Amino acid sequence: MKKTFYKTVSRTLIAALFSSIVFSFAGCTQKAVVKADDTAYVILMMTDLHLEDDEGYQKRAFRTMDELVDLSKPDLIIVTGDVNDVFDRNDKIFKAFGEKMESYKIPWTFTFGNHDAQGSAWSKKDIADYLESLSYCKFEKGPEDVYGYGNNFFNVTDENGKIIQTIFTIDTSGPETGTHFVERSQIDWYTSAVRNIAVEVNGDPSKVVPSVMFSHIPMREYKEAYDEAEKNKEIVYGKRREKECPDDTEDELLETIVSLGSTKAYYCGHEHKNNYVVYKDGIRLSYGETCRHKWYIPSRGGLIVNVKKDGSITQQNVRRSSASRIYKISKEY
Ligand SMILES: [Fe+2]
Repeated sequence: MKKTFYKTVSRTLIAALFSSIVFSFAGCTQKAVVKADDTAYVILMMTDLHLEDDEGYQKRAFRTMDELVDLSKPDLIIVTGDVNDVFDRNDKIFKAFGEKMESYKIPWTFTFGNHDAQGSAWSKKDIADYLESLSYCKFEKGPEDVYGYGNNFFNVTDENGKIIQTIFTIDTSGPETGTHFVERSQIDWYTSAVRNIAVEVNGDPSKVVPSVMFSHIPMREYKEAYDEAEKNKEIVYGKRREKECPDDTEDELLETIVSLGSTKAYYCGHEHKNNYVVYKDGIRLSYGETCRHKWYIPSRGGLIVNVKKDGSITQQNVRRSSASRIYKISKEY
């Protein structure tokens, strides 16, 4: 293996409350997200850019990305796949995307979507090689004996260097295109990572550290979780606007997450119109907000995940309707 996939993304805790800053976007004013004083670390999730080799669409998507980064001032950006929408020159798309992400000078990473390696230019490995060559990108191919690329984890530490939260990214795309279930090798890798971190922090594999997981494809359980939440009026946020399309193969990801007790939230993209948040077996299941510009999409935006000093999390949706440039920022939930 080239190098260890273990990394630490640490940051000194900022005690002072961020003051509300007013940004100017194309002639309108927009209030930035106010960072709460119990927030240790801010993750901005962006998903499903579906960039095309068309200057107009690319410019619009990049402007939305700029605005989301300005508004949320994240410590880490995670782009959960389907950056690419073309079939011939995904290398051009990824180079433009990589340059844009590097321009923020903020650590960032990526999970593969089902469209990223479609066509004949760059394979998943080529894309992974490119991402590994970038300065701010923390993506690594991950262990060679584990299915896919980008099965990684990052630890958030407090000011004393103690791990308060682990961020997992997991590959749910096919060998090159299509969706994919979470394979046994990924589940074993995830299980041993959770236990090893528990030993490192608490000296006991069962005393797990809280974690979150980001991917492209929803788990199969999203559908029944939403149905149940709708019936019981327990939808935490957002709406189902289209059918969920997980991989049909049964895997043991949710069962493993529940039995280990570390991961409290799972995040995905893939369905561009869904942005709901519901619970299943105590695990928060969330869609992000899409950044896609070409299709008719009711809104565009990103999802902020606030890691609190005690290791808990809250979320905030930052979204605007297609017809407006003013973003609505949800309360923390
Ligand atoms: Fe997708």
